[in-house]
Amino acid sequence: MEYILIILNIFMWVFIAYKLIQNIERFRCVFVRRQIPFVPSERVLRRETVREIFSHYPRAKTVVEIGAGYGGMARAIARKTSAQVYAIENMPFTFFMLRTLNLLTRARKCAAVRADAFEYLTNTKRHFDIGIAYLGPGPNKKLQQFTKKFDVIITLDAPIAGLAATRTVDLSRYGFTRWDRVSYPHMLFIYEFRHFGS
Ligand SMILES: C[S@@+](CC[C@H](N)C(=O)[O-])C[C@H]1O[C@@H](n2cnc3c(N)ncnc32)[C@H](O)[C@@H]1O
Repeated sequence: MEYILIILNIFMWVFIAYKLIQNIERFRCVFVRRQIPFVPSERVLRRETVREIFSHYPRAKTVVEIGAGYGGMARAIARKTSAQVYAIENMPFTFFMLRTLNLLTRARKCAAVRADAFEYLTNTKRHFDIGIAYLGPGPNKKLQQFTKKFDVIITLDAPIAGLAATRTVDLSRYGFTRWDRVSYPHMLFIYEFRHFGS
């Protein structure tokens, strides 16, 4: 009985420390870095993104997740498609969780990269088949500068202002994401810059 109480106590303190660090990081995201904090994508968004890649871009070899959070979406893509995924995240604790979960789930095809995603894309000479972004309408605008780095960009729930989507997938029946107190119904926006076919 005593051991159980000690174990419960440890779990409670680990959970409190986890929540505290998570909230400090959220505060830094919103008020210091002025970027979208970590909010995991819902299962339906992951499933439909994987389905989109699978049915339209089965030959995709490289996928970049621009702002990967704990990596749920990135690992789902790595697991279900043949692509190598680069999961980019800049916040230290979120990145720690991303790497830890990658290790625990042995996600070999999902490489965690600690960097500001836009700096990473500016500095890399690489070209990627697909970019995925679940960042909201403001940060999505910056993606306009990187259309040459990708064959396809898929944004979740918010479009890239100024670019016409090649197609959209309406998922509004599954709910919405709220950014700056505005609701954005679930939707995929797909931008093809070079069609590499199926
Ligand atoms: C809404 S969450 C999306 C998480 C993940 N993509 C998912 O689908 O579960 C956005 C994530 O992007 C990260 N992020 C935002 N701006 C970023 C940037 N410029 N560079 C790298 N990561 C960024 C945040 O720290 C956060 O973890």
